[in-house]
Amino acid sequence: MTALLSLERINTFYGAVQAHFDLALEVEAGRIVCLLGGNASGKSTTMKVILGLLRPRSGTVRFDGMVISGLTTPQIIRRGIGSVPEARRLFAAMTVRENLLMGAYARRDAGAVAADYERVLGLFPRLRERLAQRAGTLSGGEQQMVAMARALMGRPRLICMDEPTMGLSPLYVDRVLELIRTINGEGVTVFMVEQNASLALQIAHFGYVLQTGRIVLAGTAKELLHDPRIRDAYLGGRQAA
Ligand SMILES: Nc1ncnc2c1ncn2[C@@H]1O[C@H](COP(=O)(O)OP(=O)(O)O)[C@@H](O)[C@H]1O
Ligand SMILES: [Mg+2]
Repeated sequence: MTALLSLERINTFYGAVQAHFDLALEVEAGRIVCLLGGNASGKSTTMKVILGLLRPRSGTVRFDGMVISGLTTPQIIRRGIGSVPEARRLFAAMTVRENLLMGAYARRDAGAVAADYERVLGLFPRLRERLAQRAGTLSGGEQQMVAMARALMGRPRLICMDEPTMGLSPLYVDRVLELIRTINGEGVTVFMVEQNASLALQIAHFGYVLQTGRIVLAGTAKELLHDPRIRDAYLGGRQAA
């Protein structure tokens, strides 16, 4: 089976500082794949590379078999990649409705956009009650839902999420994980970056572990949950099964 997304031998730099060392990973269509790693391991940089916000010095990103490294971010989004960035990055002064419609800015099929708007609100009924509210006044969990809903408005085949549960109350953490599963169930492939391995591995099919810019471990969620290296480094001794 060919991967929907693949990163091949990516080397990324910030000036003289190297952030990725021959980074390689694959995301199969239909899956939830997580990229785990501690602070400053290069997770957000991976997102930037996929979305064309940062150009690697060498290496290739392929989406659906086509090379996308080198394209602009709007071109990459138009190919079918949606993004839920770190810390949500909503348009705080705009309403929920306006934020959602911004997610469809690259689309020209107005009729389908209207249908998707209804479909997305069906997935996030809570947002329907908040359509006229300014996004900046919502709770963290609600903002995360707006960011996810906004990404879905672009009708992505792949959605990339950077630490979607960060800073949320436990109730919203569960809700967001459930929504990621629901979105995946609707046929959207998910690539998520997480510092919290035990949360991500609850819903992911497959995971990679990044350490200072290098993939040091890869496996199914089950394999990773039982791997002593993961348990010690990311799950804490308590999680030992
Ligand atoms: N804009 C930047 N300029 C310089 N160095 C950066 C920048 N962004 C990230 N880095 C460095 O790149 C490395 C990876 O960062 P990042 O991808 O943000 O890690 P993570 O998301 O895993 O916490 C870190 O050492 C970080 O300090
Ligand atoms: Mg980060």
